[in-house]
Amino acid sequence: MINSNHGADYESVLRDRKGQAEAFDAIGDRYDEAFPHKEGQVTAGDWLIGSLREGARVLDLGCGTGVPTARQLADAGFEVVGADLSARMVELASGYVPGATFHQLDLADLRPGGPRDLGRFDAVAAFFSLLMLPRAEIPLALRTVRHLLVPGGLFVLSMVEADVDDFAIPFLGNTIRVSGYLKEDLHKVIAEAGFEIVKETSYTYAPAVTDVPPEEQVFLCCRRCD
Ligand SMILES: C[S@@+](CC[C@H](N)C(=O)[O-])C[C@H]1O[C@@H](n2cnc3c(N)ncnc32)[C@H](O)[C@@H]1O
Repeated sequence: MINSNHGADYESVLRDRKGQAEAFDAIGDRYDEAFPHKEGQVTAGDWLIGSLREGARVLDLGCGTGVPTARQLADAGFEVVGADLSARMVELASGYVPGATFHQLDLADLRPGGPRDLGRFDAVAAFFSLLMLPRAEIPLALRTVRHLLVPGGLFVLSMVEADVDDFAIPFLGNTIRVSGYLKEDLHKVIAEAGFEIVKETSYTYAPAVTDVPPEEQVFLCCRRCD
C-alpha cells in the first residue's frame, strides 16, 4: 500500500541532502559514460518538442549534466532552465549547454511558498530525479511541479519500476538512496497529484557499468489537469 501523503507538509518530511549531493558531485564526470543510451528520454523530449509552442519556457528538474535533455530542448529553441542539487552537475551542464540557464538548488526549495522561485513554466522534465527522494516526499515534489506549471502545462518524467523506499544502492563507487513504485502505484501517485497521463513507454535498460543491475525504466508524458 502506498502512502500518497497529501496532507503532509514539506518541513515534516524533508531529509538531509548532503549525502545525495556529495554522491552526485563525485559521480558527475562519469554519469554519461554509465548511461550512454537514452532513447527513451530523447523520445519523451521529442514529445515535448512536438507539443509545445515556439519559444516555450521549460524546466529540466534534476538536470544532471544537461545531456541529453537540456541540450535537446535548448537546440529546439526553447527557453531552458535547469536545476540540480549537485554543484558539479550544474557546472558540467553549464559547460555542455551554454544556451540554457542553470541553478544549483534542492527541488524542495521550489515548493509553493518555498525559498526559491524560478517563475512558471510551460513544461517541466524530471528524468530519473524524483526517484532520488524518499517516497514520503514524492507527492510533495509532484505538487511542486504542478505549482511550477502554467494551467495545462506539460510534464515528462521517468522513474525506475521498483517497490522500494529510500533504499541505499551502490552506484559508480558511491552510495545513493532511491525510491520507486510498481507501475500501477506510480499511475495513482501521478493522478492524485493532478496530472493526466497522455503517453507511456517502458524499456528494459542495462547500464554500461557492472555495479548497476538492468532496470525497467518508465517514461510518462503528462498534462496538468486544471
Ligand atoms: C540519476 S540523475 C539524472 C540526471 C538527468 N535528469 C538525466 O536524466 O540524465 C539524478 C539527478 O537528480 C539530482 N537530484 C537528486 N536529488 C535532488 C534534489 N532534491 N533536488 C534537485 N536535484 C536533485 C542529482 O544531483 C542528479 O543530477
